[in-house]
Amino acid sequence: MPKRYIPNDKWSKKAAEEGYRARSVYKLMELNEKFYIIRNGMTVLDLGAAPGSWLQYTAEEVGPKGRVIGIDLTEIEPIDNVETYVEDITNIDAIKKIVPEEVDLILSDLAPKTSGIRDVDQWKSIELSQAVVETALEILRPGGKCVLKVLRGGDFEEFIAECKQRWKKLKVFSVEASRDRSNEIYVILWK
Ligand SMILES: C[S@@+](CC[C@H](N)C(=O)[O-])C[C@H]1O[C@@H](n2cnc3c(N)ncnc32)[C@H](O)[C@@H]1O
Repeated sequence: MPKRYIPNDKWSKKAAEEGYRARSVYKLMELNEKFYIIRNGMTVLDLGAAPGSWLQYTAEEVGPKGRVIGIDLTEIEPIDNVETYVEDITNIDAIKKIVPEEVDLILSDLAPKTSGIRDVDQWKSIELSQAVVETALEILRPGGKCVLKVLRGGDFEEFIAECKQRWKKLKVFSVEASRDRSNEIYVILWK
């Protein structure tokens, strides 16, 4: 029988021990501890949510009065008190049909399929981030927040400059659980 792959980095081990589906949950926990973004009773939309560790943690934080919706190109295994949909997040009309009301918080840990070419991957990440920002500006309630992962590179500064013009407040933050060599960074936007 083939051996099951067990990742041996500290965050993956911790996630497996604590019942989370991915190591990335610790990135969201750190962001939440720092910026207090997820609160009891909130409606939260997670874009690019598979396999679902952010959904698991968010559902715990919003509690039974909250609502958590996850969207991904890939099907997400069911999670208690979480709604999931298979959709391309760049299809804003489809997203608005899934979530017709205003939401309190949008999360995005989206990662494009990597090409291995750093500039191309970074450009694709910016393109996805732009789609998230457009959706967020349409469906976030006034005062709502959007937290998104972006790969830093050539177009990053231009993306940030554009966001600064359209959002009330912006913070750029790098989390401990990102791999050392990673160029990923999290951007927090206040509407
Ligand atoms: C790093 S994973 C997200 C991990 C997730 N935060 C978790 O904690 O389990 C990035 C996800 O983005 C999704 N994705 C990439 N492009 C997408 C698109 N255009 N529409 C929807 N999902 C997309 C991928 O399918 C992948 O599941």
